[in-house]
Amino acid sequence: MELNRRTVIAGAAAAGIAASTLGGTAHATGGGTPSKKLFGTLADGTKVHSWSLSNGGTRLKVLSYGGIVQSLEIPDRHGRHANVSLGFDNLEDYVAKSPYFGALIGRFGNRIGKGRFTLDGKPHQIDVNDGENTLHGGSKGFDKRVWDVEPFTKGSDVGLRLYYTSADGEMGYPGTLRVKVTYTLTRHGDWRIDYEATTDKATVVNLTSHVYWNLAGEDSGTVYDHELKIAGSRYTPVDSGLIPTGELARVAGTPFDFRRAKTVGEDIRVAHQQLLYGQGFDHNWVLDKGITAAPVPVATLRDPSSGRTMTISTTEPGLQFYSGNFLDGTLVGSGGTVYRQGDALCLETQHFPDSPNKPSFPSTVLRPGQTYRTTTVHSFGR
Ligand code: BGC
Repeated sequence: MELNRRTVIAGAAAAGIAASTLGGTAHATGGGTPSKKLFGTLADGTKVHSWSLSNGGTRLKVLSYGGIVQSLEIPDRHGRHANVSLGFDNLEDYVAKSPYFGALIGRFGNRIGKGRFTLDGKPHQIDVNDGENTLHGGSKGFDKRVWDVEPFTKGSDVGLRLYYTSADGEMGYPGTLRVKVTYTLTRHGDWRIDYEATTDKATVVNLTSHVYWNLAGEDSGTVYDHELKIAGSRYTPVDSGLIPTGELARVAGTPFDFRRAKTVGEDIRVAHQQLLYGQGFDHNWVLDKGITAAPVPVATLRDPSSGRTMTISTTEPGLQFYSGNFLDGTLVGSGGTVYRQGDALCLETQHFPDSPNKPSFPSTVLRPGQTYRTTTVHSFGR
């Protein structure tokens, strides 16, 4: 069941109930200008700030380091807020050991085989940081960069604009890439991300966001009982290094079939070679709607215990569903919680992994004069 504040309020109005009695207290609706405070200082002396913003019942904390969503709080069916994203409470842990908690990912989301690709006949070797492959941009990707942050309010929206310029040759990628990411909280409590980038040389780009979701709250154990639905009839199978083989395989009759909602845990222990490679789900779904000019709903996540739901809409053609397989009980998170395998999941909207080496996949090439633009919206309900 998908219910958001819009429908709750509309329903309440029809039933003659004041919206304020629905668990959404004063702060549930209020926008207001985002505020910032010092979060920590990097070894080189750079100050990192934490920005707080709220609107429509959603409360967000964002760091200038990595554009990291440090916490995202939404109400449950009784109006009780919880932080539904994994994170740390200090900068040192983000710098030293974060598995991309809440971070912006670039220049290239997910893997590029052997960190190599050829563009316009020219071979490029980029930084390798995951065995023999490149993961999430390289060892110092956008998740480890300090972004310039500018707050805004626009009508009933509040948000942050984040800017980062990636130098020509950074991590081995060609071209100066100017990136702007806009985080918007709408009056309905939706969290929208608009990504934009331009380049001065032909390059490859694939930006995404790496929030680890647990709709029951970041301290509540595994997400195996969350119900997930993905509008994708195919996925991209991988080899043992998690590089796509190039095949677009049908999900029908496999554990990868989430076209009807099922729990994350239902098939996660099936002895399927692809699940063994990923130690669970760690695959790109080929979204049936393809690339679209406007965001289209592609996935819904629901936690039956709290009633919280999240619907993801995107312009992108792919969705990486990663079931938190490599969380291993060695990280202590924001609330003092020890994170273990399956304690959260990621739903990363994207172009397909290793696209620069897979001519049959939708292109990730960006050329001078073009603007890279994608949008993803997270809508919450209860
Ligand atoms: C990847 C996983 C990786 C994780 C990093 C996901 O997007 O698909 O393979 O381990 O990010 O924590």
